Amino acid sequence: MNVRLHTLLLILISVSLTPAQTPAPPTTEPTPTARYQTGQRTRDGIGKYYFGREIAHFMTHHAAPWLERREREQEERPDLVLKALQLRPGDLVADIGCGTGYFSWRMAQAIGEKGLVYGVEIQKEMLALLDAQMKHRGVQNVQGVQGTTTDPKLPGPVDLVLMVDVYHEFDQPFEMMESICKQLKPGGRVVFIEYRGEDPSVPIKPLHKMTEAQVKKEMAAQPLEHIETIKTLPRQHLIVFRKKAAK
Ligand SMILES: C[S@@+](CC[C@H](N)C(=O)[O-])C[C@H]1O[C@@H](n2cnc3c(N)ncnc32)[C@H](O)[C@@H]1O
Repeated sequence: MNVRLHTLLLILISVSLTPAQTPAPPTTEPTPTARYQTGQRTRDGIGKYYFGREIAHFMTHHAAPWLERREREQEERPDLVLKALQLRPGDLVADIGCGTGYFSWRMAQAIGEKGLVYGVEIQKEMLALLDAQMKHRGVQNVQGVQGTTTDPKLPGPVDLVLMVDVYHEFDQPFEMMESICKQLKPGGRVVFIEYRGEDPSVPIKPLHKMTEAQVKKEMAAQPLEHIETIKTLPRQHLIVFRKKAAK
């Protein structure tokens, strides 16, 4: 091989090995802008992650009797919840993910006949159970609303949104909270009641608990400010936010 041919070959080989020409390895890393990630699907979850938290599978209507269990009064102290909510007569309230209406009728009593509770559900079977419960209790100021997983479809603006043991089941939490915030009156409150994720002695499946820090982290993406966290309940915390004033 003559010297010129040898040099040409060396140049060709070195060019073909330069990093710029090496194809990038395929990546499964989420892009920095991706809102949700897909990951391992655990027994109670859907394999979709938001801020590092796996979203829980929603509770189906087949488990509705659990929502009306007698021990619930001692375990969740609805009397203390109502005290903490500080509802006023005439308030408009949304009970999102209301289930059978365990909290809907209690709030309806607190706000009186001039007030109204929207009981929002994605499961029509739960709405039927809500209706039956309200009839059974003679409560007339609770209105069932069929929502979607991105929009509660409230008929009008509300003073307060309550979510008891629900938020961790939202499969589109960002979009759902964005819609909720739009449907809140200025200065309106959003209240999360979740089993305390910080406390290993609370006998609830991990994906159905949430820490205060996680809720605050996820709400930082919304036009909400944290007001207080009330810790008077035996197993849950009540995390209260207010809608920020529009700029
Ligand atoms: C564990 S139950 C709690 C029911 C009620 N809040 C209570 O404490 O008795 C959760 C409920 O949230 C509902 N849910 C889940 N995702 C929802 C969403 N995006 N919009 C409305 N309801 C939802 C489920 O259908 C289920 O009935």
